[in-house]
Amino acid sequence: MTFLSETDAIGRDLPRRDGSAKVMGTATYAYETPLDDAVYLHLIQATIARGRVTEWDTAAAEALDGVVAVLTPRNAERLASTEDRELAVLQDEEIHFRGQVIAAVVADSSEVARQAAAVVRVGYAQVAHDAELRADDDNLYAPEKVNAGFPTDTAEGDVEAAMAAAEVTVEETYTTAMYHNNPMEPHATAALWDPAGEGFLTLWDSTQGVHPTRSKVASVFGLDKAQIRVVCPYVGGGFGSKGQPHVNVVLAALAARAVPGRPVRLALTRQQMFSLVGYRTPTIQRCRLGADRGGTLSAVAIDVVEQTSRIKEFAEQTGVPARMMYASPNRRTTHRLAALDVPVPSWMRAPGECPGMFGPEVAMDELAERLGMDPVDLRIRNEPDVEPGSGKPFSSRDLVGCLREGAARFGWSTRDPRPGVRRQGDWLVGTGVAASTYPVSRMSESTATIRREGDRYITEIGAADLGTGTWTTLPQIAADALGVPVAHVDVRIGDTDYPMASVAGGSSGMTTWGSAVVEAARAFREKYGTEPPDGAEASGSVGPPDDRYAMHAFGAQFAEAHVHADTGEVRVRHLLGVFAAGRIINPRTARSQFIGGMTMGLSMALHESSVLDPRTGHVVNHDFAEYHITANADVAKIEAHWLPEHDTHVNAMGSKGIGEIGIVGTAAAVSNAVWHACGVRVRDLPITLDKVLYALEERPEA
Ligand code: MOS
Repeated sequence: MTFLSETDAIGRDLPRRDGSAKVMGTATYAYETPLDDAVYLHLIQATIARGRVTEWDTAAAEALDGVVAVLTPRNAERLASTEDRELAVLQDEEIHFRGQVIAAVVADSSEVARQAAAVVRVGYAQVAHDAELRADDDNLYAPEKVNAGFPTDTAEGDVEAAMAAAEVTVEETYTTAMYHNNPMEPHATAALWDPAGEGFLTLWDSTQGVHPTRSKVASVFGLDKAQIRVVCPYVGGGFGSKGQPHVNVVLAALAARAVPGRPVRLALTRQQMFSLVGYRTPTIQRCRLGADRGGTLSAVAIDVVEQTSRIKEFAEQTGVPARMMYASPNRRTTHRLAALDVPVPSWMRAPGECPGMFGPEVAMDELAERLGMDPVDLRIRNEPDVEPGSGKPFSSRDLVGCLREGAARFGWSTRDPRPGVRRQGDWLVGTGVAASTYPVSRMSESTATIRREGDRYITEIGAADLGTGTWTTLPQIAADALGVPVAHVDVRIGDTDYPMASVAGGSSGMTTWGSAVVEAARAFREKYGTEPPDGAEASGSVGPPDDRYAMHAFGAQFAEAHVHADTGEVRVRHLLGVFAAGRIINPRTARSQFIGGMTMGLSMALHESSVLDPRTGHVVNHDFAEYHITANADVAKIEAHWLPEHDTHVNAMGSKGIGEIGIVGTAAAVSNAVWHACGVRVRDLPITLDKVLYALEERPEA
C-alpha cells in the first residue's frame, strides 16, 4: 500500500485516546487490577517524631479473623539495600519523623487490615525532635548540590557594592508554605510474588515511570531487573509524588514476598499521603534587587532557606530561576538547608521554579512600584541577550512576546497603576503580572520500537501518561515522523515489557520519548522505505541535548484579584497566561496542562498550606476538609494562550515541555494583583484574609 502523507498530525486538536475508557470507568488503575485471592495491606504509622519503638503488642491484631500477618521490624524481611533511608522500611525500630511506617497488617479484606492496624499497641522511647524551619537555625548547612544537579550557590560581580550604589532597591523576605501533592488517585500498588524459579515480582503501581520504579525496587531487594515487571497504563495524577518510588511500593513488594503466590493490594489513605510520598519544602527567600532610576537592574540576589529530612536530603533548587531570568551584572544565589525530624521532601510540580519565581517576581513588582514604572516594562527593560551565568545563546526566548501578548489580551494598557483605587461594590479590584519559566529537560535514556502489524504501526515505549496526554500525543509524533495517518498508529506504554523510558518528570516526557519515537521512525523508514512488510520493526533512542544552547520555556501570567473591603476575602476573577513553549503537539491536552498548572498556582496563592505543628511534627490539616485545594468555585475565568514557536534546537518536534510552567509565577501574579487591589503586599503564602484585613481596617473611607 502507499502511505498518505498526513503532515498535520502534530498540532491537531485530537481528543484523548484514553478519554472514554476513563469516563466509562473501564480504565484499570493499579489498585483495581483484577487479581484472584488478593490480600490487603494497611500501614501503621509512628505517633512521635523521633525516638524508637520499645514495646510491641500485636496479639489483638493477630487474633482477628482474616489477619494474615502483622509485619514489624522484628519479623520483616531484611532488604538488600538500605542506602536510601526513606525506603529502608521495617528494618529497625528507630523513628525519624511522625507518620513513619512502623508496622503493617496483611489481611483478607481492607476493612480487617485497617481494624487490625488500629489495635496494634506500641510503646516508645521518645527523644527531643526539631520540626520547625527557622531562618536563624544555627544548624543550617549548604548541600553539595541542589535538585537536578545544579550548583548550590552562584555569584557574579559584587552584589553588596551594587546594592549600596543602586538608586532604587528592594530588600524583602518572602515565604512559601509547605505543600503536599494530592493527585486524585492516591499512591496505590498491587504486588504479586511468584516464588517459582528465582522468583518473579509483578507490581501494578501508580507511577510516573515504570522503568525507574523497577530499577529502584530491584536495588532495594537485591533482585535482577529481569525478575521484576512494573505495569502502569493509567495514573490519576502524580505531580512529582509518583516520580520515584516511595515507601508504599517497597511495603507492597515486601508484603507480597511474605505471602508468596497471593497478590497484595495497598492504597494509601489521603491522610497517609501527608507523611509518606514527599511534599514541597517550605521556603524562606531573602530577595534583593538594585536598579537605576530607569529600571535597569544592577543587582539580583536570592538567599534561600528550606528544609530537608534528617534521613535523606532533598534540596529544592529554589534559587535557580533567578540565575537566568533577567540581565544583571551582579548576582548572587544561595541555598541553605535545615535537616529536620520531618518526612522526606521531594518533587512537586516545578520544583525550584515554582517557589523560586514567587519571591523574585513579587520583588520585581515592588521595584516597579518604587520606580513608578509599569511592571511589564520593567521586565522587558531587563531582558538578557544571552543566558545570564552561562553566556549561552537561548535556543529561543520570547518572554517579551508573552508579556506583550498577555498585556494586549488582558487590557493592561488601561490599568491605573495606583493601588487601592478601583472598587466594584464591596470589592477592591486590582491586577497583577508575573513571569513564568521552566527549563527544557531531556533525560538520557529512552528507546522506542515501531513495528508494522497489518495496517497498524505499533509504537512501544515504557513511557507514562499521568493524565498529561501521552496516550494521544505520542501517536501524533509517530504519525508525523512516519508520514502516516495518526489513526493508523497505536502506542503501547506503561509497562517494563516495553523499551526503556525515563520518568515523566521535569516536563521532559515529550522531548525525551518523542525524540526516541522520531529516531525509531527514521530508522524504520531507512530500513523499509514506504512499503514495509508486515512485522517490519525498528528501534531508536533519544540522543544527547544540544548543549550549545540555553533552553527554556517562558510565559507571562496576568491576574485580576478582588479583595472584599470589609472581610479581606480574596477572589481571583480572571487568570490569563501566555506561553512560549515551542511547538504545541496537541492544543487540547496542552491547554489542559497549562490551565491545570495555573489552577494549582492559584491554589498555592490563596489556599494550600500544610500546617506542621512543631511540637508534634504532625501536619494537622492532613485531609481535604482542612487542606483546601482550589476547586471549581474558586476558579472563575481562566485562559491559556501560546505564541507560535518552533524551536529547532530543543528536539526534532520543536516542542519544549508544558507540564510544569503553568504553575510558575501564578502566585506572584496573584499577590501583585492583591497589592494593586488593596495596597497590601502579602509576602507570605498563602494570601489569606487575615494578612490583608488589618490594612483594610486602617484604610480611610473610599
Ligand atoms: Mo515533576 S515535579 O518534575 O514530576
